[in-house]
Amino acid sequence: ALLPRGEISQVEGIFLEKNTCNIWDKIWNFQAKPDDLVIASYPKAGTTWTQEIVDLIQNNGDIEKSRQAPIPLRQPFLELVITTYSGINQANAMPSPRTLKTHLPVQLLPPSFWEKNCKIIYVARNAKDTMVSYYHFQRMNKTLPDPGSWDEYFETFLAGKVAWGSWYDHVKGWWRKKDSHPILYLFYEEMITDPKREIRKVMEFLGKDLTEEVLDKIVYNTSFDVMKNNPMTNYTNVRMNHNISPFMRKGVIGDWKNQFSETQNKQFNEDYEKNMADTSLLFRMEL
Ligand code: PPS
Repeated sequence: ALLPRGEISQVEGIFLEKNTCNIWDKIWNFQAKPDDLVIASYPKAGTTWTQEIVDLIQNNGDIEKSRQAPIPLRQPFLELVITTYSGINQANAMPSPRTLKTHLPVQLLPPSFWEKNCKIIYVARNAKDTMVSYYHFQRMNKTLPDPGSWDEYFETFLAGKVAWGSWYDHVKGWWRKKDSHPILYLFYEEMITDPKREIRKVMEFLGKDLTEEVLDKIVYNTSFDVMKNNPMTNYTNVRMNHNISPFMRKGVIGDWKNQFSETQNKQFNEDYEKNMADTSLLFRMEL
């Protein structure tokens, strides 16, 4: 039961899980196929939510089909390597068309995806809620280092010294890439506010045409409560300690207010202003 904590190391100045760094050449040389779809995000942005939406759209709303396997088996997590799982092997063994998940920053996405002009969906979430969600995730997920206290983690996150690097660089880098490549850039806050509108956007991006009835069925089956109780989306079957904090934790906008001290909020806002001065990206941090 006493599995050791995973460690992080660096590739091109970006912190990644050590297991990922150890096989970096293999990941960098991954061969994409033109009909691969990539779901990219910074951790805790709403990746799993987007994955389930995409899978249900691809399956024309067939719930049974989407519930045949846990999400990392349906949609390989490209750079993940744990004892029993390798995203690369999982992907290579899978028939096309494939949908792959990644948290890699834009400059570390294997070049083959650009060469094959693959479709990409990116999902972003405001930094404050992302940070809080990531903190609780690192407490419960043993493949990442112990986050320490919240106050310690706050500094670590702002310094970009967490797995998959700086939130700022990640969201801004993918935002810029959108100008030269087909990327659907989604926001967690918009998905919360109007899930059906955002699901329709995904449907159109994938070139699908579903009835209103099917769309409503997908809205319902990708709601927080349904996904929290769905063993194929709630990660209860993998190496995470849900007694410390569940994977499907709260699923709201603005939970950072329960975690940030006033001083931290001030420090954060100053840092944020500096780092976001050079982008047109805007985030809502409350409902
Ligand atoms: S991971 O590990 O990076 O893939 O995590 P990710 O899936 O990106 O993010 C997990 C957070 O997303 C919330 N979530 C949802 N919110 C609303 N609706 C739905 N359906 C949904 N599914 C997942 C999940 O609860 C995590 O956020 P927090 O704030 O921790 O609750």
